[in-house]
Amino acid sequence: MTPRPATEPVTGLVAELVGGLTDIVGAEHVLVDADVRATYEVDWTRRYRGSCAAVVRPGSTAEMAAVLRRCTELDITAVPQGGNTGLVGGGVPRSGAGAPAVVVSTLRLTSLGPVDVGAAQVTLGAGVTLAAWRDHARAAGLDAPIDFAARDSATIGGAIATNAGGSRVVRFGTMRQQVMGLEAVLADGSVIGSLSGLPKETVGIHLPSLLSGSEGTLAIVTAARLRLVPWYRRTITAMIAVADLDDAVTLLGRLRGTVGSLDAVELVLPEALELVAAHVGSTPPVSATGAGAFVLVDCAAHDDPSDELTAVLGDAAEVLDAAVTTEGPAREHLLIFRDRITEAINAAGVPFKLDVAVPVGRLAELLEVAHRSIDRHGGRLVPFGHLAEGNVHLNVLDPGDPTAIADEVLGAVAAMGGTISAEHGVGIAKTPWLHLVRTPAELATMSAVKHALDPTGTLNPGVLQPAT
Ligand code: FAD
Ligand code: MLT
Ligand code: ZN
Repeated sequence: MTPRPATEPVTGLVAELVGGLTDIVGAEHVLVDADVRATYEVDWTRRYRGSCAAVVRPGSTAEMAAVLRRCTELDITAVPQGGNTGLVGGGVPRSGAGAPAVVVSTLRLTSLGPVDVGAAQVTLGAGVTLAAWRDHARAAGLDAPIDFAARDSATIGGAIATNAGGSRVVRFGTMRQQVMGLEAVLADGSVIGSLSGLPKETVGIHLPSLLSGSEGTLAIVTAARLRLVPWYRRTITAMIAVADLDDAVTLLGRLRGTVGSLDAVELVLPEALELVAAHVGSTPPVSATGAGAFVLVDCAAHDDPSDELTAVLGDAAEVLDAAVTTEGPAREHLLIFRDRITEAINAAGVPFKLDVAVPVGRLAELLEVAHRSIDRHGGRLVPFGHLAEGNVHLNVLDPGDPTAIADEVLGAVAAMGGTISAEHGVGIAKTPWLHLVRTPAELATMSAVKHALDPTGTLNPGVLQPAT
């Protein structure tokens, strides 16, 4: 679609759509001005953008149902959007898409249900942020099991839709494991799901599992019943310099085997450490001399976990240098060198992002492949990620030939038994490479499920599978 200027009157189908949506949610929640739509039309990295006829912001599940019913009746496609921090282009309109689209924002779905301490569960609106989930849980003495740097904007609905990961997966698993129930709306306006949160139920297809990772292509989640975990108030954090990735993996093995309070085992490679240090104007807390990799370890427990961690680090021959800190400003300073890498990369340019995972023992081989590919095709590699899951974010700044890099790196990843998307999803970014990790029968199964739930193709066309 060609963007409409702010002053252009809405006509024809778009006028009918805007009128219909206004009847449902009220004029203040149907955004049509180009300036206002603009932030919803471009993704966080600025790589993906398109144009929409309007942004609509339903305030309840009933309004969401009426909105989707209206879109389907008018043959308008709907792009679900939460915090718009997604990194694969799935939450913004497609550029050059033939049919008009609306962005359906969940940001008004911010209800915070009471914390059920006995069940260790809470019901939240899909537009609640990860930070609000954490704060709400902590006010009741519990905690949220999912955390990552986009916590102040990323929403519950977006995290479910992408099966988000983050730093605590080593302890609690991905978002999929946290969803005890959900409520969602199909393209025809039907409301499905349950928020009762029963830990045991075996009555056929498990909707939270089906929708986790479905990237807004099957239904729009409006609320979720989520697991809570103990709030471990005593923490110790270490940034550890090691010679190379193989030593990082050896250290990971030691930690897993002995440290019960392990909360995060993250990976920062020298290029990322240098970039973030320059971006924040601060010196890294560990010496980089001779270091080929840095491992950031977080331990959290009810009782001080310091001895547990320092005993392992003291015995580990791989440790070249380590900065170890408990709560307070020193810990905050240390965490900057992991938390602000994505921001530092974005400040340096529009990155080409490959979020991949391989069996941990093959990480060094993967990095060699990536370096060779980028040497051939141009670009600057900034790698970092989640060591415990063998998940590396290969960020390429100024890529010469991104498609050639993706062909080579993703091909190698698949050959190593890895995945082309560990936690960000497929979006529109990875659809050309889905065949590397899904068989024709599996792709046909995904299409059949999509067709069964969204026969009109209203929801997020082009995401997960090329638009037909
Ligand atoms: P959006 O970006 O709005 O949407 C993402 C996808 O979900 C789109 O396909 C959209 O259509 C769909 N969607 C959104 N809401 C709904 C809904 N209610 N129902 C159905 N579909 C919906 N991700 C990680 O996994 N781990 C990380 O460590 C991590 N770190 C990040 C750090 C930074 C600084 C940034 C910018 C991003 C990071 N991300 C990370 C990526 C991103 O934050 C996650 O993918 C997050 O889950 C997206 O949530 P969102 O609300 O912003 O979703
Ligand atoms: C992270 O782990 O910080 C992210 O997933 C974000 C990114 O890949 O840039
Ligand atoms: Zn990540």
